[in-house]
Amino acid sequence: SERSEDNLRSPICCIMGHVDTGKTKLLDCIRGTNVQEGEAGGITQQIGATYFPAENIRERTRELKADAKLRVPGLLVIDTPGHESFTNLRSRGSGLCDIAILVVDIMHGLEPQTIESLNLLKMRNTEFIVALNKVDRLYGWKTCKNAPIVKAMKMQSKDVQMEFQSRLTQIITEFKEQGLNSELYYKNKEMGETYSIVPTSAISGEGIPDMLLLLVQWTQKTMVEKLMFTNEIQCTVLEVKVIEGLGTTIDVVLVNGVLHEGDQIVVCGMQGPIVTTIRALLTPHPMKELRIKGSYVHHKELKAAQGVKITAQGLEHAIAGTGLYVVGPDDDVEDIKEATMQD
Ligand code: GTP
Ligand code: MG
Ligand code: NA
Repeated sequence: SERSEDNLRSPICCIMGHVDTGKTKLLDCIRGTNVQEGEAGGITQQIGATYFPAENIRERTRELKADAKLRVPGLLVIDTPGHESFTNLRSRGSGLCDIAILVVDIMHGLEPQTIESLNLLKMRNTEFIVALNKVDRLYGWKTCKNAPIVKAMKMQSKDVQMEFQSRLTQIITEFKEQGLNSELYYKNKEMGETYSIVPTSAISGEGIPDMLLLLVQWTQKTMVEKLMFTNEIQCTVLEVKVIEGLGTTIDVVLVNGVLHEGDQIVVCGMQGPIVTTIRALLTPHPMKELRIKGSYVHHKELKAAQGVKITAQGLEHAIAGTGLYVVGPDDDVEDIKEATMQD
């Protein structure tokens, strides 16, 4: 697998924002799942990962009739918690991604964890788009299920359009106070300097096609170099989980490279480096959440980017948030063990 413009890995997109702005619900809307309603207290407490194949994105953006020629195999979306106590997980999520969606509740504007997320993204120079979510809560909103936002907006009464405009203006001002220029995405002539805002509803799906198209077009346009596939493994452990029938497993995000069944790996453990062999490489089905127990697809090998469940012996004391390394034919295990423990 060569490093070229024709061999791109899937971009990784992290979804961030204040608690209950609708991050998980937006993903549910795209997946056709119901993850959010199954969460304890409706609160996300773990990092999630969902793979969206290119054909699903193409399907969802068809009505926009844009040049949705996708050169990436798909999109890996990382869900993060918005609750204030999970700063570490937001930081981990934002550290993995190529691009982010910052979700803002149109009824609330910028909130403390919106600003915290914003600062994490600024710190790492990560590009992002803003999903201005819950537009269906504007008083008198007429549902236009899964419609592109311009089409949905035209269907609204003058009153709804005015309320939208005044809330939008207020939120643009709040971004300005954080030192950022922002604008509705279809009016934005300076992408890269001015952040794009996509109005969305996670309940009725308005604006979802726009959000997906913008993500894919933007990454393909500006990040080809970064997305060129490399054989060098870049992989982070998200969770260490005991699964009935599988024993202790680790959920990882494979950012770059290829993993194989049988690969010798090294992960950071509480009592020192763990050297083991990949017994099974599992993923949820496409458009399904990695953190939700379900049926898994077995793979002989997996190419980045993917959310992967790995089964192997001796993972009991593995530490989430650290790197996973593969011992190649020319590598010295001792060197890798040392590198691992520096995480
Ligand atoms: P955390 O992960 O806990 O930070 O929350 P979240 O940002 O993932 O929000 P979540 O998806 O849990 O949604 C929070 C609540 O808002 C739920 O009751 C959702 O049904 C509701 N909600 C989310 N998006 C929308 C939307 O677009 N419109 C309306 N009306 N309600 C929404
Ligand atoms: Mg959530
Ligand atoms: Na929530």
